[in-house]
Amino acid sequence: MDINNLFSVEGKVAIVTGGSRGIGEMITSGFLANGVKVYISARKAPALIEKAKELSQKYNQECIPIPCDLSSNEGIEEFTNTITQKEDGIDFLVNNAGAAWAEPYETFSEQGWDKVMNLNVKSMFFITQKIKPLLTKRASVDDPSRVINIGSIDGLNVPALETFSYSASKAAVHHLTRVMAAKLVKENILVNAIAPGPYPSMMLGPAVNHDYSEIEKRNPRHRVGTPEDIAGLAIFLCSRAGAYTVGETITSDGGIVKTASHNLS
Ligand SMILES: NC(=O)c1ccc[n+]([C@@H]2O[C@H](COP(=O)([O-])OP(=O)(O)OC[C@H]3O[C@@H](n4cnc5c(N)ncnc54)[C@H](OP(=O)(O)O)[C@@H]3O)[C@@H](O)[C@H]2O)c1
Repeated sequence: MDINNLFSVEGKVAIVTGGSRGIGEMITSGFLANGVKVYISARKAPALIEKAKELSQKYNQECIPIPCDLSSNEGIEEFTNTITQKEDGIDFLVNNAGAAWAEPYETFSEQGWDKVMNLNVKSMFFITQKIKPLLTKRASVDDPSRVINIGSIDGLNVPALETFSYSASKAAVHHLTRVMAAKLVKENILVNAIAPGPYPSMMLGPAVNHDYSEIEKRNPRHRVGTPEDIAGLAIFLCSRAGAYTVGETITSDGGIVKTASHNLS
């Protein structure tokens, strides 16, 4: 029952897709600060390599960049081949890389569907499928491997913006999490999802001109999410303390989803 036994992730090996900034960087930082070796991926190689160097130095822990485009099967193949050459096994896979698209209903384009569904849903499935042999190598009854899929509260609530494909993709992530959890739990791989609310990032920032004050005012906790909020939840899910939590979608949103009806009354 010692806190170090309950929540330790030390000595583990993780993959965080889209780890070069935003929520992926926050989770990566939490892992590195607590003794996890982390592979991060993103398309823009210079920014990714620079970020990995910065985080390795900051936390005195190995952060390894693998530049790749995970929106295609070729990119996923290349990514998993590179990881397989470097590691015999992986303990945690965080499927975080994602894209959003907003366009008025009347003109909403096919591109806005394909880009978002391909990366947010289809790639998440195929990355997990291809990384599974590495997850299996580390998985045991006492210490299962973990997959965390990053969904969104937009997949639980109806969003304010015209992000039709994005909110549908995130609802799909939450359900895919349950379906994959049912399959992989039999092999000691635990799959769960986190549904974040507002976190400062390149995805959310442009929608509010990087001014989060209105969002903060409306949030039940009167603030946006911090690295500690999301990294703490990811560490819980990956630790001994999270080893009986399977197929869940856990919000990290300051209470937006669970207090929505109260706020309307
Ligand atoms: N921020 C929020 O408020 C919020 C709320 C709910 C859910 N989320 C979810 O959280 C996740 C992270 O979002 P974020 O806000 O941190 O966004 P972000 O700042 O835009 O970061 C996205 C990350 O994914 C990478 N990425 C994008 N497309 C990729 C591709 N095709 N292949 C490989 N990597 C790719 C990006 O790097 P490159 O551009 O270099 O590829 C970047 O590292 C997403 O799934 C998002 O839907 C965010």
